[in-house]
Amino acid sequence: MDETIKLLNKAESGLSGTIVVPGDKSISHRAVMFGAMANGTTNVSGFLPGDDCLSTIACFRKMGVAIEQEGDKVTVEGKGLDGLKEPNGVLDVGNSGTTIRLLLGVLSGRPFHSVVVGDDSIGKRPMARVTAPLRQMGAQIDGRETGNKTPLSIRGGQTKAIEYTMPVASAQVKSALLLAGLQAEGETSVTEPQTTRDHTERMLHAFGVKVTTAGKTISIQGGQSLQAADVVVPGDISSAAFFLVAGCIVPGSRVHLKNVGLNPTRAGILEVLKRSGAKLSIDEQVTTGGEPRGDMTISTSELSPFVIEGEEVPTLIDEIPVLAVLATQISGTTIIRDAEELKVKETNRIDTVVGELAKLGADIEATDDGMIIRGGKPLTGGKVDSHGDHRIGMALVIASLCANGPVELANIGAISVSYPQFFEHLQSLQ
Ligand code: S3P
Repeated sequence: MDETIKLLNKAESGLSGTIVVPGDKSISHRAVMFGAMANGTTNVSGFLPGDDCLSTIACFRKMGVAIEQEGDKVTVEGKGLDGLKEPNGVLDVGNSGTTIRLLLGVLSGRPFHSVVVGDDSIGKRPMARVTAPLRQMGAQIDGRETGNKTPLSIRGGQTKAIEYTMPVASAQVKSALLLAGLQAEGETSVTEPQTTRDHTERMLHAFGVKVTTAGKTISIQGGQSLQAADVVVPGDISSAAFFLVAGCIVPGSRVHLKNVGLNPTRAGILEVLKRSGAKLSIDEQVTTGGEPRGDMTISTSELSPFVIEGEEVPTLIDEIPVLAVLATQISGTTIIRDAEELKVKETNRIDTVVGELAKLGADIEATDDGMIIRGGKPLTGGKVDSHGDHRIGMALVIASLCANGPVELANIGAISVSYPQFFEHLQSLQ
């Protein structure tokens, strides 16, 4: 990881210009995985060439799948699920939670042995949420803490369907179980406590697989095969979020964002911005592969504080770090609750957001399940750290745009996990 420290300065004038938002990370992972499991050639355009999605490509190549990638174009030569081969080395997911959890679902149905590893952050994240139900389906899984932490070893095959009520709202867990269920005998049903992002369901449909959703229960019949499909990946609303917030808080700004994914299970940040009074216009355009997308324009806005809680949390979970930055610039008290899942992301994002923004003078307090921010005061300069978490790094860069002194940010290399062109795009607006 790049360990350089970058000096950042307050935005001298408003941000203005247009950004074509890079590909959605969640959808890019799934396009490669589903292409690798399908029969035929899958062409992906708009792929996100970030470190996480490159880890997914590397893992499937190790299972014998021919994958070509150049920039945002990927070609996957799928030979069906039976075309996946026992890897002759470890599968390294790097920093990617989506890769490891969905991969475990795929491997549960494959009649071979694999060892899955990741970086230090992955080594701290809970895997029992997927390994426990996958074992119930019949997969043999072991690892540190009896299968909760990497390295994990897995021998799959001969799985049977389950009906499973998920204790946590997690699209990664839901997706892993659907991918295992696809290969199991019988019908697998997964019930989530709250609706989470549904990219897996939408993309499986595009690959010819029948998945049914009834309320919060999603069901899949085992034994179906995937047929290759071309995927046009929309821009990542989680990446657009940094510029939506920057456009709101830097005085004199007007920013156009093109090609933003507008899947309602991901679009919570837009609802928060609207109810806080943001000057935001959205022009919904096309839907491809079941995923809606559009362009938007954000201008500097006078905002009211907000509350985020309950069912809304999964629709903006990855945007909370930058929404906390936004709240520091709004007079009044913003409350984020029901977000304990933040503790098991790339870092404990309650601790890292609160700790780092406090170093810049923010009045911010951690709670058991979120944070309280008393905003409206300018931030100060200071030395901060991404802690190797891409979204913490980018949120701090946005914070620096409204700080009254220089901000030094350590560990900026993490940003390439989801947004390799982040600094280039920010500079183009300045
Ligand atoms: C993701 C699901 C979410 C999200 C992550 C990507 C996915 O994680 O935070 O960045 O692609 O399915 P959880 O499933 O842990 O909530």
